[in-house]
Amino acid sequence: AAAEKGGFASFMDKEIHDQPQAVADTLLGRTDLEGRLVLDDLRVDEAVLRQVDKIIVVACGTAAYAGQVAKYAIEHWCRIPVEVELAHEFRYRDPVVDAKTLVVAVSQSGETMDTLMAVRHAREQGATVLAIVNTHGSTIPRESDAVLYTHAGPEVAVASTKAFLAQITASYLLGLYLAQLRGTKFPDEIAESFAALRAIPEKIQQVLDAAEQVRETARSMAEATSVLFLGRHVGFPVAMEGALKLKELAYIHAEGFAAGELKHGPIALIEEGQPVFVVVPSPRGRHSLHSKVISNIQEIRARGARTLVIAEEGDEAVLPFADEVFFVPQTPVLLAPLVSVVPLQIFACELATAKGLDVDQPRNLAKSVTVE
Ligand code: G6P
Repeated sequence: AAAEKGGFASFMDKEIHDQPQAVADTLLGRTDLEGRLVLDDLRVDEAVLRQVDKIIVVACGTAAYAGQVAKYAIEHWCRIPVEVELAHEFRYRDPVVDAKTLVVAVSQSGETMDTLMAVRHAREQGATVLAIVNTHGSTIPRESDAVLYTHAGPEVAVASTKAFLAQITASYLLGLYLAQLRGTKFPDEIAESFAALRAIPEKIQQVLDAAEQVRETARSMAEATSVLFLGRHVGFPVAMEGALKLKELAYIHAEGFAAGELKHGPIALIEEGQPVFVVVPSPRGRHSLHSKVISNIQEIRARGARTLVIAEEGDEAVLPFADEVFFVPQTPVLLAPLVSVVPLQIFACELATAKGLDVDQPRNLAKSVTVE
């Protein structure tokens, strides 16, 4: 087992470090000689994809957060409404689904029963179902109309890390492909976004190389009983994923909130010493939410929060209000989750390790839940 972990203390630690490769491999071989996107493994009629008028992403756990990230990008690129729903909720609420609906089922294992039941239900209603799955030959892609494989390699640790990044990457490929097919974006813009995706593995590597700072913080917080996470836009699902990782691995009460929602409730939780991670959007974004999130940091700091800020390199505006800043490389706004979630994964893994917990096999959880 030590050899399988490639010298890392746990599978999870190894899988966090596999992430540059997972993203690179998921992007491999996706363009033709003219630079157009080709999704060879998709096996679905282009005519069907052209007439899609709604996308519903169904998934559970971390895969559902990948879907939430994807929603921002797919709607922006394709102008198709995207809903994201937990598979078990979708299945039992009489959802509005028809032949023009594309249901995207996201799953690392391809065996999650809740997600499989949603796939079956969607197909019965006449929807086209596309699976974004990591495990070849698993049940969900077998029962779907189309499949786009993530190439993250086997994920062993119960808590998902590299599959998450690969799921975001694959759903972005899908979004760009649909934009290309439907002509909603100029070819240049699609090529630009694809090139930006190709630059991501190197940026993840930079985050990994700078991980000692977040590890040290994690070790100093082994006694924490509650940690909050705030994010906005694509940073919102990142905040929720950061909270989920901490619950799963370190058994610490953690919640992720939309930063804009703070004043509508969660700010009541802030008291002296409450640690809060804040995922700050890029100050360079066209519709920058940067200053709004900076105000959020100010507001919680004024109420005694300990602010742990994830910000883009060069973003000096965060410095006056942050107890600690973890800088991540600059990316286009929509691609930021692929780098900003990494410190949160490392944080949870290291904190759980500091507590002496088994990070690969957290209590009460299974890697793949094959019952409803
Ligand atoms: C389980 C795992 C989670 C995972 C979820 C969905 O609950 O513990 O880590 O995110 O299932 O799994 P899937 O294989 O469908 O992505």
